[in-house]
Amino acid sequence: MSENEIRLAVIGCGGFALFALQQFVQVPGVRLVAMAGTHREAAIVAAKRFGVEDIEEVDALLARPDVDLVYIATPPFLHYEQALRALMAGKHVICEKPLAMSVAQADELVATARQRNLLLVANMMQRYSPLFDAVKALIDEGVLGEIVHGYFENYAADEGLSPEHWFWDRTKSGGIFIEHGVHFFDLFAGWLGAGEVVAAQATARPGSGVEDQVQATVRYPSGALVNFYHGFHQPGRLDRQELRLVFERGDVTLHEWIPTRFRIHAVANEEQTRRLCELFPGGRLNATEVYGGRQRECRGRFKDFDAYQLLELSGGDEQAKQHRYGDLLRALLADQVAWIRDPRHRRRLTEQNGRESVALAERADRLAHG
Ligand SMILES: NC(=O)c1ccc[n+]([C@@H]2O[C@H](COP(=O)([O-])OP(=O)(O)OC[C@H]3O[C@@H](n4cnc5c(N)ncnc54)[C@H](O)[C@@H]3O)[C@@H](O)[C@H]2O)c1
Repeated sequence: MSENEIRLAVIGCGGFALFALQQFVQVPGVRLVAMAGTHREAAIVAAKRFGVEDIEEVDALLARPDVDLVYIATPPFLHYEQALRALMAGKHVICEKPLAMSVAQADELVATARQRNLLLVANMMQRYSPLFDAVKALIDEGVLGEIVHGYFENYAADEGLSPEHWFWDRTKSGGIFIEHGVHFFDLFAGWLGAGEVVAAQATARPGSGVEDQVQATVRYPSGALVNFYHGFHQPGRLDRQELRLVFERGDVTLHEWIPTRFRIHAVANEEQTRRLCELFPGGRLNATEVYGGRQRECRGRFKDFDAYQLLELSGGDEQAKQHRYGDLLRALLADQVAWIRDPRHRRRLTEQNGRESVALAERADRLAHG
């Protein structure tokens, strides 16, 4: 074992943990040393995959001096308690989203981690996407003018979610905003700053009590309103998502929940066209109309714009979705491990992101349930 090696242990070896761990163990200097879980058969299969000798109890795992970092991948209702125990045992923590089921719990975790100088982060890997950076620059540089509106539409599969699955039980999942919405509240906060939930609704399948759809409207500091919709009601092969940011001179649309494809529809002058192509490398540019003379003058929001062309810039590769997902997980762990090695390292994602995303989700959940 090298001096700088980070010894990782996992609590909860379910569907997602297996996927994430396959990525985490590829990060240089990280070694998986221990696993704890409850469904022994599945857990033993997972342990075999990674060459870990046995599945142990959570307490035994946390008592091991040879564990530096604990990855918690149990259902949401266990995150707070297990993360707190791990921090109290002196372990760094990467917790599956959501960080906790309530802001009060998240605050306690954040305070504990800070007091003890320990890592605490929720696994919201979206901020490590190259498309996150491209869109962030588009907003910050004002290439298409100011942001005016946005939406995220999530038509998610429920094929793998049996009626008994913990996902449908609000006491275990926290509901869709908490369990799932946090990813996208965090993504948009990364782009637009701290938002405020101004409206939210939820709806259940007729006669069943199964709440499978929620939506919320969030107002951002610029004044932009963004609508978030999450519905879990589609066959697996139809699972699809689309998000759009609308600017004064066009819009950008990203497809899939780990965005893999983009399409920009805009009017732009020569310089703006060049910048768009730089920010979204590999995109295919099509000029729908080209303007000259007085035609270059256009107007919107009481402002005059100079436009050389009406364009479409699109690109990406849907086939690469799972690979992109893996890239983001590895990037997240590498960034967090860099902080464990040197706390001066500036991370993309911190305990604060986990806390803020739960705060928006909790507020949305309360508004939706009166
Ligand atoms: N970041 C992402 O993109 C992403 C994607 C999918 C799921 N998730 C999150 O991952 C977490 C797990 O989801 P999943 O789909 O893998 O669920 P799952 O039901 O497949 O797995 C949960 C695991 O936790 C174990 N477990 C349950 N109670 C336990 C306990 N008391 N102690 C130890 N282990 C226990 C179960 O045995 C199971 O192996 C959830 O929080 C979910 O939101 C995150």
